Amino acid sequence: MPTKVLVTGGAGFIGSHTCVELLQHGYEVVVADDLSNSSPRALERAAGIARVGTPELCVIDIRDGAALSQVFADHRIDAVIHFAAKKAVGESVRLPIEYYDTNVGGTTALLSVMREHEVGRLVFSSSCSVYGSTTKVPLTESDPVSPTNPYASSKWMCEQILADTCRRLPSLQVLSLRYFNPVGAHPSGLLGENPHGVPGNLMPYVARVAAGQLERLSIFGDDYPTPDGTGVRDYVHVMDVAEGHRLALEHLQGERGMRTFNLGTGVGSSVLDLVAAFEAASGRRVPYRITGRRPGDVATLVADPTAVSRAWNWTTKRDLAAMCRDAWHFQTRDPARHAC
Ligand code: NAD
Ligand code: WQD
Repeated sequence: MPTKVLVTGGAGFIGSHTCVELLQHGYEVVVADDLSNSSPRALERAAGIARVGTPELCVIDIRDGAALSQVFADHRIDAVIHFAAKKAVGESVRLPIEYYDTNVGGTTALLSVMREHEVGRLVFSSSCSVYGSTTKVPLTESDPVSPTNPYASSKWMCEQILADTCRRLPSLQVLSLRYFNPVGAHPSGLLGENPHGVPGNLMPYVARVAAGQLERLSIFGDDYPTPDGTGVRDYVHVMDVAEGHRLALEHLQGERGMRTFNLGTGVGSSVLDLVAAFEAASGRRVPYRITGRRPGDVATLVADPTAVSRAWNWTTKRDLAAMCRDAWHFQTRDPARHAC
């Protein structure tokens, strides 16, 4: 019997790429998503790319315990990947209650339904943002956390809730994955990141500037203590992140309790590095101007991915050039992508 995985938030950016990876590796996929930040079209495309199996979409809010329990009752779920969350840092400062309600309340609702249905395997989406305003480079999982906004706090609270619950419920096995900066798109150009409105994150903003949809990039500060003065991040291809989730599921079998891993490349790239790589990948110019620092930004955030590579032999296969090439392909290939 193939393993049946419930993917919450599976219609979203990372979730839809993970669905492709799971289907291609013989998993059955059920998605629970309220489509608040996604479209069912992403799952149709995921099925088209995978060419084997179709994710079954249940349009529910994961905080609705009765609806979630019905999904577990209707499907024999073996394991869960929990992506569903709100993820915009700036918005979380304006809407803290909504962020805690969705991210923390969604996680506790899921845990209680998993307990009710005796499902013990869980992969959780955490974030490098839990490390907060740190100067340490690179970051290991044992470095101190210090979340600086409600979004990051919500992820750290979930990690604590999961750790406490694992202590109480020995049947619960959790892998919490702290992603650094997932970017890029499926190489087909059919799935990718397409935020509503003006993008807040660098890669989708740069893609729209290169496409002529936005006039120029504002670079938030060139006076950081980094090689070129602009912020340095650990950009990681969304397909490498998707593969990481498949490996996580495979390794959950033998796990006990909870473990936390960074998912990053270990390579830092500055804003100017990314602009240059995008210009090379797209053949377009990306005009920019330097503006002031964005409040809350840190100079450098780079993962030490040693632990995860030792544990599962996970290493990233795609470099910054591939991330830019695939993001550009998604930007240009499909005029109807706005429906995704
Ligand atoms: P996304 O917004 O594209 O996907 C999240 C999905 O969850 C969406 O499809 C949305 O409709 C769904 N959702 C939101 N609230 C829901 C609810 N109450 N019930 C059901 N579905 C709901 O985001 P993403 O970039 O794919 O991120 C996935 C996960 O990874 C999130 O937990 C996010 O916090 C985490 N993460 C993302 C990044 C990043 O840079 N993209 C970095 C670190 C961690
Ligand atoms: C990257 C760099 C900016 C936009 C965010 C979340 C984090 C995690 C990953 C979810 C920084 C600079 C950006 C622009 C710029 N997500 N920049 N001009 O802030 O590292 O991380 O996504 O968990 O929680 O905070 O990503 O893409 O916004 O910024 O100069 O228009 O690009 O200052 O140095 P960030 P980002």
